[in-house]
Amino acid sequence: MKERIEKITEELKTLQCKTEKEVEEARVRLLGKKGEITALFDEFRTIAPELKREFGQKLNVLKKDALAKIEELKASASSGPAAGGASDDVTMPGEPHQLGSRHPVSIAREQIVNIFRKFGYDVAEGPEIEDDYHVFEALNFPPNHPARDMQDTFFVSNGHLNPLLLRTHTSSVQVRTMEKNQLPIRVICPGRVFRNEAISARAHCIFHQVEGLYIDENVTFADLKQAILLFAREMFGPDTQIRMRPSYFPFTEPSAEVDVSCNICHGKGCNICKGTGWLEILGCGMVDPNVLEASGIDSKKYNGFAFGMGVERIAMLKWQVNDLRHYFENDMRFLREFSTCVDV
Ligand code: PHE
Repeated sequence: MKERIEKITEELKTLQCKTEKEVEEARVRLLGKKGEITALFDEFRTIAPELKREFGQKLNVLKKDALAKIEELKASASSGPAAGGASDDVTMPGEPHQLGSRHPVSIAREQIVNIFRKFGYDVAEGPEIEDDYHVFEALNFPPNHPARDMQDTFFVSNGHLNPLLLRTHTSSVQVRTMEKNQLPIRVICPGRVFRNEAISARAHCIFHQVEGLYIDENVTFADLKQAILLFAREMFGPDTQIRMRPSYFPFTEPSAEVDVSCNICHGKGCNICKGTGWLEILGCGMVDPNVLEASGIDSKKYNGFAFGMGVERIAMLKWQVNDLRHYFENDMRFLREFSTCVDV
């Protein structure tokens, strides 16, 4: 009897059933009217009285274990994949998990940021709702100066000396960085900016910029040109050329606008570059001494350069997107085209 109890105990440990039918068969085989455990109980009645105590306990434990095992097998067979029912057909095609991908503007911004990080620039961020002082005044736009019209502004509050507004460029973050007075400064400021413009293929009232600022002793225009050239080659390819045209910004003097050689026709002239062979990518210049002084930096000791670019514009040129509005409409056909792009 002892051996048979042990044998069934062992068997219970490894017993497996795939279907509910198999579980029922196992139950009948062990605990049914003619089952193995039931038979042991019958036999128990006939054994010597001095053995009853020991075997009685053993049999009770065995029966309890067997019942528990059958319950456990029943539960897993009814929820398991072979339980039957259409949804459990393992040969059916799986439900695809649609993985999202990064937005092209995010990809371009990351690429720009990563290039300047490699050059040793830190990243700084600041508020989108700014005051007039940080967006204009500290950047050498005197009150009522016509240059303020270069960037039509959304005002959040007016009637004050220093009204709140939606920042029109991230140069405001450069001001906030200069105010901390930890020199030298080498920083880029990515962020969203707002201008009161009619929406068209080439303009939007919300877009993204990456602006850069480098302040140290003895910084020259040649340093600026070299930084922009290296950036352009990392972004648009090693053969890229740049050219600088004189321009005007209140906060830089001298100022320039930078073009890159057209990466589509390689300078021959096409409809993207309108036959010129050049594409405008950013504005830049040597920081005006007034700007340094406004933030408490000694302009006799320090100087530097600044630059600023539109992320959507860089992305349009890099991937030949002909309408800015595509970036805001979230048409899946457009967004999917960028699903394999990676950061540099
Ligand atoms: N802040 C300028 C703009 O938004 C870009 C710029 C930055 C130009 C720094 C020169 C220097 O258009």
